[in-house]
Amino acid sequence: MPNPYISGTGFYVPAREVTNQDLMQYMDTSDEWIRERTGIGARFFADGIGEGPSDLAIPATKQALENAGLTVADIDFIIFATSTPDYYAPGSACLLQDKLGFELIGALDIRVQCSGFLYGLSIAEQYIKTGQFRHILLVGAEVQSSAMNLTTEGRDTAVIFGDGAGAAIISATDEDRGILSTHLHAQGKYAKELWCEVPASGLNPRITPEMLKEKRQYLYMNGREVFRHAIQRFPEVINEALDANGMTTDDVTMVIPHQANYRITQFVQKRMKLPPEKVYSNIHKYGNTTAATIPIALHEVVEQKLIKRGDVIVMAAFGSGFTWASALLKW
Ligand code: UT7
Repeated sequence: MPNPYISGTGFYVPAREVTNQDLMQYMDTSDEWIRERTGIGARFFADGIGEGPSDLAIPATKQALENAGLTVADIDFIIFATSTPDYYAPGSACLLQDKLGFELIGALDIRVQCSGFLYGLSIAEQYIKTGQFRHILLVGAEVQSSAMNLTTEGRDTAVIFGDGAGAAIISATDEDRGILSTHLHAQGKYAKELWCEVPASGLNPRITPEMLKEKRQYLYMNGREVFRHAIQRFPEVINEALDANGMTTDDVTMVIPHQANYRITQFVQKRMKLPPEKVYSNIHKYGNTTAATIPIALHEVVEQKLIKRGDVIVMAAFGSGFTWASALLKW
């Protein structure tokens, strides 16, 4: 059975950097509050005039292909994880297939919010193991800025999210390396604790001027509730991955958590008695880019040579749905 491993990574963020000071023009907030509560110093926003997640995915994908030593012609399948697709229909994977001139391969969107990249990794893992595909492009890309209420009313959520894209190529190998296991969970009971209500297909019309006036198009987050569940689920799902492979945290070189909030990352690091340098964080630069945080962080970890061949890494995510997931890899 072929082993699925990550053969290349890439990332991209849009041109416009928005610092905490910049946000103070729109809302009553401060650099101090945002840094203390979230660890975020800046994030990047798309241009707002047509730059969608499939556009952000283009440079990320090119870089991942280059790092894998592959071209678009080598890719057998596209998986695009996003909670902010370019359109309701068709999916962002189809748009990316066209924009980069891929062969007429399958192109699948998945909507699992912050856990999207790890759900996508799990899908790729199965296709590679069965031998159906040899090289799969997995993208996590988001444009969250257009769902942010950039006024004081929306400040608890608006300061957290940013736009960006990360890409990874999942390839088949006969060597003893790659994805050892993936673990997926969801609890839809908490769907409305972190959700975007409209446009909604159950409403006809899906969106009205009244709904816009009521600000129902913006992402809503019950921050305290999300925090409470996140600090329970992150350690739980990391331990699940370790247990499944008969490992402990001592076997792990790097934990790459979804960059939800630095306080959550710190909590997980302390709770699991991990040294801080074993838990990667870059949220100060990009904010929370939802499905893109893990592939962006992975790319940085690889670029900075923080992991080497044979090292064990664990990735974990928690977010809207609620959904949570982990993956354990031998690099
Ligand atoms: O991928 C999953 C992503 N989501 C998360 O990771 C979110 C998890 N939750 C959190 O990180 C935190 O709940 C937040 C950072 C969102 C909020 O922190 P908190 O400590 O739970 O603050 P809070 O909402 O209880 O608000 C505390 C105070 C309030 O003022 P009063 O009522 O005490 O006077 C808020 O109005 O902070 C105020 N506040 C702000 N002040 C300045 C809320 N947002 C801001 C802001 N700037 N941006």
